[in-house]
Amino acid sequence: MKDFKGKTAVITGAGNGFGAEFAKECAAREMKLVLADIDLADLQKTKELVAGMGAEVVAVVTDVSIYEEVEKLAKTAVDTFGSVDLLFNNAGVVVPGPIWEIPAKDFDWIMSVNVNGIFYGLRAFIPIMLKQDTPCHIVNTASVAGLLSTPGMVAYHTSKHASVSLSETTYLSLQAQNSKIKMSVFCPGFVQTDLHHSDRHRPERFAITPEEPYFQSASYKAGLERARHVIETGIPIDSIGMSVFTAIEDEKFYILTHPQYHPIIGKRVKTILEGENPSINF
Ligand SMILES: NC(=O)c1ccc[n+]([C@@H]2O[C@H](COP(=O)([O-])OP(=O)(O)OC[C@H]3O[C@@H](n4cnc5c(N)ncnc54)[C@H](O)[C@@H]3O)[C@@H](O)[C@H]2O)c1
Repeated sequence: MKDFKGKTAVITGAGNGFGAEFAKECAAREMKLVLADIDLADLQKTKELVAGMGAEVVAVVTDVSIYEEVEKLAKTAVDTFGSVDLLFNNAGVVVPGPIWEIPAKDFDWIMSVNVNGIFYGLRAFIPIMLKQDTPCHIVNTASVAGLLSTPGMVAYHTSKHASVSLSETTYLSLQAQNSKIKMSVFCPGFVQTDLHHSDRHRPERFAITPEEPYFQSASYKAGLERARHVIETGIPIDSIGMSVFTAIEDEKFYILTHPQYHPIIGKRVKTILEGENPSINF
């Protein structure tokens, strides 16, 4: 996709971080915007920002972990602007903590948002794009955590490996249909966003309740601290929008932003092919 002016983009997780950045890039290219986020106040901030840049924009409070809400988002986009040309399945959360200690509902929460949320976006929007039969593009935000494995953030890695596979298999399925829909999977390393405050975006059914001792535990607090540290010491977000749009224009599937991880990804593949066991010594 090279032509953006006047086309419609839908962005989930648009209230903060990458989603807000993608919204600004779309507005700069004179696209119409459908912004979605679970957080009304944050969504409103991004809406005002891009409206101030002259964009036609509609904001829809959406929990991507609920299929009916994503279907409603798709319907609003088509009813408002008549088409959907660019989709960012971007909303995501991080849950720290050892896998043998985190509450099962935390694992369910991360999978519902990071994996089901992307599936719901693909399921709701691809039929619209197929029917249009025009050049379209979908960017799924995964992470470099979906291309390698480390002992920290096990639930997060698991969700991101799943979202890379969901993206690859969908891309191949669309290719097998000779579809005009192109796709990318965005796999950044650590970038300065609001991701370490994911807890404030927990849907009610995954809420922390006072009777759960885990959330008072040292390992939970240490996990939060680790997440804060890696996000706050990540790269600044400014260059990200441009890298992603260049990849969309070039129809590049894998979008990687941190070359320092390439040897570790290579080592993982070599380990598998040479029949070795995973090691914490990268
Ligand atoms: N920041 C990083 O270092 C980094 C690295 C790799 C991948 N990612 C991924 O990037 C994506 C965006 O995260 P970010 O870093 O911009 O974080 P962020 O917290 O700044 O933004 C995420 C947005 O998603 C929204 N959100 C959370 N749950 C939602 C739900 N159920 N439905 C709809 N919206 C929801 C939040 O309200 C927030 O506005 C995530 O998928 C994250 O895993 C981030």
